[in-house]
Amino acid sequence: MIDDDAYARLVEATSAPYRAAGRFAWRFARGKLRRDPVFRHLLENGLIPDGARVLDLGSGQGLLAALLATAGRPRLAAYRGIELMAPDVARARLALGPDCGVEAGDIRSVEFGVVDAVVILDVLHYMDAAAQDDVLRRVRRSLAGGGVLLLRVGDAAAGLPFRVSNWVDRTVALARGHGATLFHCRSVAQWRAALEALDFSVQTEPMSRGTPFANVLLCARHSPPAGH
Ligand SMILES: C[S@@+](CC[C@H](N)C(=O)[O-])C[C@H]1O[C@@H](n2cnc3c(N)ncnc32)[C@H](O)[C@@H]1O
Repeated sequence: MIDDDAYARLVEATSAPYRAAGRFAWRFARGKLRRDPVFRHLLENGLIPDGARVLDLGSGQGLLAALLATAGRPRLAAYRGIELMAPDVARARLALGPDCGVEAGDIRSVEFGVVDAVVILDVLHYMDAAAQDDVLRRVRRSLAGGGVLLLRVGDAAAGLPFRVSNWVDRTVALARGHGATLFHCRSVAQWRAALEALDFSVQTEPMSRGTPFANVLLCARHSPPAGH
């Protein structure tokens, strides 16, 4: 566990470099790391193993990379973030340096390579169901040697909290230059079924604590066949 004071210091230290990318980038980093429970949860529960090669799909301005680097744990073998929007990539590089691992690209077409952990936080609903399924199939292949997919989604079966999440997401997407986005959402049961069909074993955890949203983290593990 990380106590509240230590986490508050970690958030300040992680967000400070974003001042170099402008006031918006800094305030966004600070607010998101403070209020969104997923970042602290990943750290506290050691969900990304030491020595992992990490692929962060739809990495935004690189908050996960920044947090892990500042925390100093887990120690990663490699970090690669792929982000569609050029301004987010620019903010990541201004804050964290040109070698921070965040690159411009579309996860519907970029090669994923071989990794140990894939993180997808609040991204898949930006693309249609066929593209989502294709990304998940390619993620599964990139984890062929075993590993973990950490996928956060809004639960489309959750009623009002889901509609609140969806409204906030659309507003944020509009502000970030995505235009009037039509989101493609599923219930957690449907996400679980899609992952299990790919041979992942799945655990779910509510991931909205302290917010009015309906977010859930799916922790999907794939074990390679014996002798792999
Ligand atoms: C809600 S933000 C989450 C950002 C980051 N995962 C985080 O938690 O801070 C969703 C991100 O996914 C990116 N995105 C959406 N579709 C994408 C695609 N096809 N390829 C790469 N990034 C994409 C968006 O540009 C946006 O930065």
